[in-house]
Amino acid sequence: MQQREHWSRSIVERLRILITGEEIAAKVAEIGTRITSDFAGESVVLIGVLKGAAIFLADLARQIKLDVSFDFIAISSYGNARQHSGEVKLIKDVDRSMAGLNVILVEDILDTGLTLNYIKNLLQAHRPRTLQVAALLDKTARRSQPVQADYVGFVVPDEFVVGYGLDFAERYRNLPDICILGSTSDGA
Ligand code: IMP
Ligand code: MG
Repeated sequence: MQQREHWSRSIVERLRILITGEEIAAKVAEIGTRITSDFAGESVVLIGVLKGAAIFLADLARQIKLDVSFDFIAISSYGNARQHSGEVKLIKDVDRSMAGLNVILVEDILDTGLTLNYIKNLLQAHRPRTLQVAALLDKTARRSQPVQADYVGFVVPDEFVVGYGLDFAERYRNLPDICILGSTSDGA
């Protein structure tokens, strides 16, 4: 198992690296290049889904060689548990109308699809010119809604992952790699 020296052993013990920061960087560059060519000569708005997509959005934006602007929405669906509550709640809407704009929703991970379904419906009502989805990770095995991303970084197994923006109870977002979080006897 690969480990990062600067993390305390108590944290690293339960984490197994699934995708390294270097692999993520290469994939993000590839997605940025695709978006740059798909929208050549146009401008795009990246809408990040807080908080998980913040790091992905920051890196992706710098790989898109177009006129790019940002907006963010915040959604609550998981709380502090690993299981989806089945309920999606909007905590922060976009700041302005997306009418007539090329919108790319930026998500950390597509799991059941409940969150993405909700957000896509919300944004369709703005009548954007185009509406696409970039998801860094896709847990295809858990999909319950008929939604998919236009740009997918990695298809991941049905494991709980953290790092590069993804959290468990608000922790681990700052890990540079994407790691599988092992279970412990206390259920964390
Ligand atoms: P969905 O609505 O089931 O597709 O869930 C999407 C949201 O759940 C993501 O934006 C994440 O915030 C969270 N999520 C789903 N799977 C994981 C995971 O393995 N680790 C961390 N967060 C996850
Ligand atoms: Mg989360």
